[in-house]
Amino acid sequence: MALERTFSIIKPDATERNLTGQVNAVIEKAGLRIVAQKRIRMTREQAETFYSVHRERPFFGELVDFMISGPVVVQVLEGENAIARYREVMGATNPANAADGTIRKLFAKSVGENTAHGSDAAETAAIEIAQFFAGNEIVG
Ligand code: CMP
Repeated sequence: MALERTFSIIKPDATERNLTGQVNAVIEKAGLRIVAQKRIRMTREQAETFYSVHRERPFFGELVDFMISGPVVVQVLEGENAIARYREVMGATNPANAADGTIRKLFAKSVGENTAHGSDAAETAAIEIAQFFAGNEIVG
């Protein structure tokens, strides 16, 4: 097992309902450590860059509009196999398919307003972390 870092976003549907602490409690109970965290309002440019891999998808405009519709909490999570572990803890992208006890099953409203984002691979985690955090803002 490897100690890894992954990038997480608590999305506007969750901050709007004051759920940051409840999402963080699920993360910490799962054994992941929040080693960096800040609450920001993403700019349109930041959101478009962050989701550029989805630029050609029909939901891209809706996704960007949603991500800038309210505050988000960006985070770096650390733990053994943190990337896969956090994806397990979040549950399926569509909350209708998410397992019991997962963040999306507990809190998500829809496939778009789905409470949390987590990196899908080591390369993307490194890119996503670097988009939002300087090295000295991450304290393990
Ligand atoms: P996320 O893990 O942040 O990465 C891409 C996001 O696109 C995904 O979570 C969903 O919130 C969003 N998404 C995926 N499919 C759809 C869809 N059909 N309609 C709207 N948003 C979607």
